[in-house]
Amino acid sequence: YDYDLVVVGSANADLVIGVERRPAAGETVLGSDLAVHPGGKGANQAVAAARLGARTALVARVGDDPHGRLLLDSLSSSGVDTAAVAAGGAPTGVALITVDPSGDNSIVVSPGANGRLTPEDARAVADRVLRPAPVVSAQLEIPLETVTEVVRLLAPGTRFVLNPSPPRELPAGLLAACDPLIVNEHEARVIAGDGALGDGPEEWARALLALGPRSVVVTLGARGAVTAEAGGDVTRVPSVRVDAMDTTGAGDAFTAALAWRLGLGESLPVAAAYAARVGAVAVTREGAQASYPTAEEVAAL
Ligand code: RIB
Ligand code: NA
Repeated sequence: YDYDLVVVGSANADLVIGVERRPAAGETVLGSDLAVHPGGKGANQAVAAARLGARTALVARVGDDPHGRLLLDSLSSSGVDTAAVAAGGAPTGVALITVDPSGDNSIVVSPGANGRLTPEDARAVADRVLRPAPVVSAQLEIPLETVTEVVRLLAPGTRFVLNPSPPRELPAGLLAACDPLIVNEHEARVIAGDGALGDGPEEWARALLALGPRSVVVTLGARGAVTAEAGGDVTRVPSVRVDAMDTTGAGDAFTAALAWRLGLGESLPVAAAYAARVGAVAVTREGAQASYPTAEEVAAL
């Protein structure tokens, strides 16, 4: 294989303002100076994996504009192969982000060029990038039809990892391909629809597994994660205690690290424990891509 991980997904310019608290409807609050960071769940995953040492390619679309160049710079300087990042057709995606004093964020995304990443774009890179990959991961800031086409194009031995964020109900065929489906509580509730999820994360994982994926990971932020495999165990994975400064993109780093380690042959709980350490470092630093650790920094945690 030329790649350890191929990520298909979004690339956004993150426009970030720190706030004491979020405004209610009709209200104006003053915040910090504006920071502009490279982000987007797809580009974040690719940078996180590459920073850890994975040979990584990103399939994405940015605009032919300064935000697009910010993204391409961040990707290349982290070592991500950007040959399958198309440029043009619409402005680069933008995420408007507020971060509060506890490090929690609220995000509104304007998809822009991400919304123009088509099934045809996926087909154009299938032979060269998608089919040789041991692991392919995706999220939902690009059209759902592109994600389902990616799954259809994969070689039989390729493992598919999905973080359905932002969440929506998923077609059964897509759910069945996920190994794992990675969700937080909010995403779990949307994916499960009105179906009862049960009381705790172990039960949520079992309920999601019943929808068809080969495995499930429920992320719990500072409380770690739960992993579940079809016909196998449900396992609690601990987290590492850190002082959160900015949680933006920590879930993307978790997903990327997990996908990469699964491709190296680790079991789901072992890979998830490693991914939790990667996410823990990311929340202690500002921004998304800028906060992602090297393998040495993870080992030193
Ligand atoms: O998951 C964090 C990311 O969500 C941000 O970088 C922002 O771009 C949005 O896509
Ligand atoms: Na961060």
